[in-house]
Amino acid sequence: MVAIYPGSFDPVTNGHLDIIKRSSKKFDKIIVTVLNNPSKKPMFTVQERIELLKEVTKDFGNVEIDCFSGLLVDYAKSKNVSIIIKGLRAVADFEYEFQMALLNSSLNKDLETFFLMTSNKYLFLSSSLVKEVAQFDGDISSLVPKIVEKAIFEKIRGV
Ligand code: PNS
Repeated sequence: MVAIYPGSFDPVTNGHLDIIKRSSKKFDKIIVTVLNNPSKKPMFTVQERIELLKEVTKDFGNVEIDCFSGLLVDYAKSKNVSIIIKGLRAVADFEYEFQMALLNSSLNKDLETFFLMTSNKYLFLSSSLVKEVAQFDGDISSLVPKIVEKAIFEKIRGV
């Protein structure tokens, strides 16, 4: 079975990687797909986010990286996939994720959202917090893969 793991991935963190790793063991294939949302002001372009994701997942044989715009249900349909993977952190994520899962299944009844509980050590982690810590030159080495850490600091320093 194939599942889609959608997100902004601006950029991918160790928390995302944990979800990718664990779900790739349970499904035949995982399509990690980056939302192209022109109304947001991301740190990384979609292409850069894709490159980082490709690099950090290169050892997984069954993970494909892609991007999409528009509705997730339409993207899932175009890929002929009916399972969405989401990572759930604390209680705060639940309400929004529950709302999205219900909305998506009301738009396409065949679509199911599978939630994976985020591992303990990544419960607090988010791309925005990582970027904030990095802005103030904090240590993000345990929060993101090495190449992502390098890419974030290059962006901040305007390299
Ligand atoms: O990493 P994020 O920002 O929490 O990911 C959110 C994402 C991309 C999964 C969600 O915003 C999404 O699916 N957007 C596509 C537009 C859509 O389908 N909206 C209606 C259902 S929420």
